[in-house]
Parts: sequence; structure tokens; C-alpha cells
Amino acid sequence: MSALSVENLSSGYAGAVVLREVSLALAPGEILAVLGKNGMGKSTLLKAVMGFLPKMTGTVAISGSEATRLSPHRVARLGVGYVAQEKALFQDMSVEENLRLAIRRPDFEAALAEVEASFPFLLQRLKQRAGTLSGGEQKMLLMARSLATGAKLLLVDEITEGLQPSVIDRLAGVIRSARERHGTTMLLVEQHLPFALAVADRWAVLDRGEFAETGATSEPDSRARVLKHLSV
Ligand SMILES: Nc1ncnc2c1ncn2[C@@H]1O[C@H](COP(=O)(O)OP(=O)(O)O)[C@@H](O)[C@H]1O
Ligand SMILES: [Mg+2]
Repeated sequence: MSALSVENLSSGYAGAVVLREVSLALAPGEILAVLGKNGMGKSTLLKAVMGFLPKMTGTVAISGSEATRLSPHRVARLGVGYVAQEKALFQDMSVEENLRLAIRRPDFEAALAEVEASFPFLLQRLKQRAGTLSGGEQKMLLMARSLATGAKLLLVDEITEGLQPSVIDRLAGVIRSARERHGTTMLLVEQHLPFALAVADRWAVLDRGEFAETGATSEPDSRARVLKHLSV
């Protein structure tokens, strides 16, 4: 059974269709990178799956559970974590307070150990105000928080945006090991091609709301095939 199944999904804003009958399926533990130029509908896809935007056509199922008409809150309860492109943390609260708000288990320390295993830098910054982390670090905190709360499917919107190249190089390994530890399925929206090809099992290019081409990252011509769509 697919961890995520999207069939003929259309969505958009106030009558303007952005996403046009998109279909995809993710096997449990699989990582798919969705690439594409600005404005092609990548964020719209994640928001529609999460239930933040209306679905004009199509269906969404999460591990076999029908999720087409669920609110974001109910989708999250099916084990879906969403790391938005825009800032989504409590900026004035500390890293620790942001984690504590989400992790309502008796053993907060055990959850922290899980966070440390994948994102050790966060443990050094527990008392730091979340708003003073870089954009990329804030997304890593959101991702760590989702993993610690047991999300089985992560929708991640441009986690590399605003990160230094040295951090991006390390992040691919971090995400792959997080997947190994938790078996998490991931739908990663990315603009950073080397990162996407290093971390994902498959890639798909979104062009004006439709998938123009897909492939496995193991195929040696992946880079050239994606670049064809990204050049203006
Ligand atoms: N809140 C909004 N209201 C109206 N149109 C929007 C809104 N957000 C995005 N769009 C439009 O939808 C299209 C796709 O946007 P988006 O999904 O954010 O693209 P991407 O993430 O690929 O850069 C763009 O044409 C954009 O202008
Ligand atoms: Mg976007």
C-alpha cells in the first residue's frame, strides 16, 4: 500500500487552477524530490495534499486512508508532517519551547535524544530564540519536531533555501539517516538540484502545474534531464 497516493489532483486559488490533475504514489520509506522553476505549483501541491487549499478534482490517500476532504489538522493526525516554505515556528519562543509544544509525551528527554541523533546542532541551541535561527535551521527544527512526534510522511518545502553550501552538503546525509532511523516517507520540494539528486530515490519536474518528466535518481542522465526543464 502506498504511503501517499495522489490521483488527478487539481488545486489553486480563488478559481485560478494552478495544479492540473497531478498523480503520484510514494512507497513507504521512499523519497521523491519535486523540482521545477518558481511559480510552477510546487508549494501548491504540498498545501493541497495537506488540506490547506481546496481540491478541485482528484483524491488523496495516506497509507490507504481516504484524506481528500480532511482539514490540515486531521491530515496531520494521520501521521503527516508539513515543513512550510514560509516561517512556521513561534519566533519569540526558544527552540526547546517550540519542541515542547509539539511533543506531548511524558518522556520529553527520549524525544530530545531522537532529535539529537538526526540534528545534533539543535541540542546546542535549546535556549536560543527560534527566530534567531537561519531559515534553513528553522526548517530542520520543524522536521526534527515532526519526526519526534512520529510523523510517517513528511512534506518538506525547500529545506535548503537560505542554507550555506557547507550545510546543504551535510543535510543530504542527515535526511537519509533520518529516513533509515524512522522509515519516514518524504515528498521534498526542492530547487537545489545536487541536493535533490543526492537525497531522493526519484525525481519529478513540475511545469505549469503538471509533471513534465520523472525518473529515478540512480539513472545517470537525471541531472541533464532535469536541467532541460529548469533552464529558461
Ligand atoms: N496565495 C495565492 N493567491 C493567488 N495565487 C497564488 C497564491 N500563492 C501562489 N499563487 C500562484 O500560484 C502559482 C504557483 O505558486 P506556487 O505553488 O507557490 O509555486 P512554486 O512553489 O512552484 O514556486 C503561481 O502562479 C503563484 O503566483
Ligand atoms: Mg514554493
